[in-house]
Amino acid sequence: MRQVLYIILILLTVAAVGVGIAGRRGRLSRKPPIEVFPDMDRQLRLRPAQPNGFFPNGLSSQLPPRETVARSEPLQTVNGPVYAFEDAPVNTGRVTGTTNFVETNPLPVTGQLLQRGRERFNIYCSSCHGALGDGNGISKKLGVMPAVASLQDKRIVELADGEIFHTITLGKGLMGAHGPLVPVADRWAIIAYLRALQLSQLGSVDDLPPDQQAAFKK
Ligand code: HEC
Repeated sequence: MRQVLYIILILLTVAAVGVGIAGRRGRLSRKPPIEVFPDMDRQLRLRPAQPNGFFPNGLSSQLPPRETVARSEPLQTVNGPVYAFEDAPVNTGRVTGTTNFVETNPLPVTGQLLQRGRERFNIYCSSCHGALGDGNGISKKLGVMPAVASLQDKRIVELADGEIFHTITLGKGLMGAHGPLVPVADRWAIIAYLRALQLSQLGSVDDLPPDQQAAFKK
């Protein structure tokens, strides 16, 4: 009977001490806390924008070394600069906040972009789709890829630019993903050039400015 009493007494004491110590946790106090393991609470460090003797110029905040290359440059789209991490049509091919594909190229279509697009198309796409995009690439002659889409098909002509971006990025059917090979800006350059290729095959004399039409009309 005595022993049970002792045990209860010990338990009560432990509980009282426990509550006494742990119960104060989280209270505000002006006194420094009891520190059993100081971990790395206090260490030498530079405070931002404060004077400091460590560097020769006496500043703690140093400028980047000369000729440092920025890790990220924004793309100049028709709606202003866009960084690679932004949820914007130029990065996704989709209208922001929806799953709809954007209709038109977010990059300003210039002669330079078309040149770049031609070069990249001939490197990455013409082997299968052919230099005209009509599906008669070398892969067809070799018989290694039986059914390559003709990019001159009405269906492809009518696709939104964003959907073509999606196909280039992730691939489709037998076509592999080209996202890892072709950077974002080059994908849009290829799309701009592809549109020019389609126009070259599907355009008519009536698409020319009126004063130039006469030269081509019989
Ligand atoms: C290895 C061969 C190969 C290469 C390289 C290739 N494609 Fe394709 N592409 C295909 C095949 C095959 C299809 C048909 C896919 C299907 O419908 O199953 C296709 C389909 C497409 C389509 C139609 C997608 C649709 O909605 O039906 C587009 C647009 C396209 N490719 C664009 C490109 C562009 C642009 C490039 C260059 C960046 C490219 N492809 C490179 C083989 C290729």
